[in-house]
Amino acid sequence: MDTFLAINTKIHDENRQGEVFATSAHDDNLYKKLFYIESYGCAMNFADSEVVASILQTNGFGATNNFEEADLIFVNTCSIREKAEATVRKRLTEFRKLKKSNPGLLVGVLGCMAERLKAKFIEEEKLVDMVVGPDAYRTLPGLIEEAETGQKAVNVLLSRDETYADIAPIRLNSNGVNAFVSIMRGCNNMCSFCVVPFTRGRERSRDAVSILNECKVLFDDGYKEVTLLGQNVDSYHWIGSQNATEAGTYDEPVTFAMLLEKVALISPLLRVRFSTSHPKDITDKVLFTILKYNNICNYIHLPVQSGSSRILQLMNRTYTREWYIAKVNRIREILPDAGVSTDMITGFCTETEEDHEQSMSLMKYCKYDLAYMYFYSERPGTLAARRFTDDIPEEVKKRRLQEMVDLHRQNTLESMQRDIGKTCKVLIEGFSKKTTEDLQGRNDQNKVVVFAKGNSKKGDYVFVKITSCTSGTLIGTVVTT
Ligand code: SAM
Ligand code: SF4
Ligand code: F3S
Repeated sequence: MDTFLAINTKIHDENRQGEVFATSAHDDNLYKKLFYIESYGCAMNFADSEVVASILQTNGFGATNNFEEADLIFVNTCSIREKAEATVRKRLTEFRKLKKSNPGLLVGVLGCMAERLKAKFIEEEKLVDMVVGPDAYRTLPGLIEEAETGQKAVNVLLSRDETYADIAPIRLNSNGVNAFVSIMRGCNNMCSFCVVPFTRGRERSRDAVSILNECKVLFDDGYKEVTLLGQNVDSYHWIGSQNATEAGTYDEPVTFAMLLEKVALISPLLRVRFSTSHPKDITDKVLFTILKYNNICNYIHLPVQSGSSRILQLMNRTYTREWYIAKVNRIREILPDAGVSTDMITGFCTETEEDHEQSMSLMKYCKYDLAYMYFYSERPGTLAARRFTDDIPEEVKKRRLQEMVDLHRQNTLESMQRDIGKTCKVLIEGFSKKTTEDLQGRNDQNKVVVFAKGNSKKGDYVFVKITSCTSGTLIGTVVTT
C-alpha cells in the first residue's frame, strides 16, 4: 500500500491568531507508535514542529491528526505572554482526562514553556511525561524510550550550534504553496520585556547551503513562496567554510542581503518573504536587494514596540523614535510601494498617557499596513521583571490597546482604499474563507486579495484589479493570468 506520512498539527499562532488543521492518513502497522503534535506561538515554533515530525518519522513513529488515537501527544508551547501559557495549561487539562482512559499515553511538552519551566513543569503538571526544550529535539527518540519505562524525561539543554540544518522538515498543514524556512535560531538582543533569549538561547545562523537546498527542494515540489524565518533576520551571518556541512559551503561570509539574493535567484517564480527585521539591523543592502528582484516581496515587518524614546530605552530596543522614523522614511524612499508592519506593546512599565500618545502618533505617521498589538505581560526572569515594576493597571493597558486597535483599523482601511483601481500580482493560496466560489491569495505587500475563481487555481499567479475592500481584505477581479 502506498502510504504517506500522516501529518497533523494544530497551530495556535499567538501572533497570527490562526488555527489550522491538517488531514492525514496512516497505516498503524507501519509505525512503532502514533504521535500527535499541537503547536502554539510564532512561525518559528511551527517550523520546529515540522522538524520534530521529521525526527519522529525517521525513527519509526507515525502521525495522526486525531489526538484520541495517539500514543504520544506533543504540545509545542509558547511563553511570550501569560495568556499563551494559560492556553497551554488549559489544553493539558483536556489531555489529563485522556490519560485516565489510556494509561499508556505519553504527553510531552516542547518549546519555549518547556525551556522556561524545565523540570518544574513536571512538578506543576503531573500528567506531563517529557519536557523537551527547543534545542533538544534530536534526543526525542531516547526521551520517549525513557518515558516508556515510567520515568519522567527532561532535556532542556540549550545549544550554541544547533540549527537542525540537516533535517528535512515534514510540511505540516501545508497548502503546498507557502512554506517556512528557518534561517537562524535564538536571539541576542535582550529586549527587556522578552522571554525569547531565555527560551531560545544564543543567536546562531544556519548554513546558507542547507537553506538554499531546502528552498530548491520546496520549489521543485511545487511550492511558490518561502518565508525565511528568524527573530532578527538582518543579523543573519554565515561564516563560511569553517562550518562546512556535507551539503558543501561558501568560502566567503554570507550576510542576510546575500542570502536573500541567492534564494531569489532560485527562480523568478519563487516568491521570497522574510520575518522579522529588527529596526537597528536592517540595511540599505537588504532594501536594494528587495528593489532588484521582483520575486522578493515588497513587505517588511519592522516591529517598533513603542513610539516613546523613553519607553524604547527602558525596553532596551537600542533605537529612538526619531531613528525608527528615519528607517521607515528610508524604506519608503527606496521602496515607495513597500508594505510595512509592526508589533506594538501598550502599558509597559511606567508608560504615561503622553508615552501612549507618542505610540499613537507614530502609528499615524507610519500608516502601517498590518500591526500586531499586545498589552504588556510581565515575564518572569526577564530584565524588565527584575528591574522595573509592572505598574500600569490592566484596565489601563487594555484601554490603551483598544485605542491603538481602533486607530490601526482606520489606518488599514485607508491603506486598503488607496489600492482601489490598482492592479496587483497575487499568488493564490486557496479558497476564500467564505466560499469555494472565490479564491484568495496575497499580493506583494502581504495584503489578502479575494476574487472570483474563474479558471484560476491554487499556486497560480494572477493579476487582480482591485474594485473594493474591507479593512482586512482587498476584493477584485482577475484581469490577466
Ligand atoms: N523578534 C521580534 C522583534 O524583535 O520584534 C519579535 C518577536 S516576539 C516573538 C513577537 C512580539 O511579541 C514582539 O514583537 C512583542 O511585540 C511581543 N511581546 C514580546 N514580549 C512581550 C511581553 N512580555 N508582553 C507583551 N508582548 C510581548
Ligand atoms: Fe525578543 Fe527583542 Fe529578540 Fe525580538 S529582538 S525576540 S523582541 S529579545
Ligand atoms: Fe512564543 Fe517562543 Fe515563539 S515564546 S513567540 S514560541 S520564540
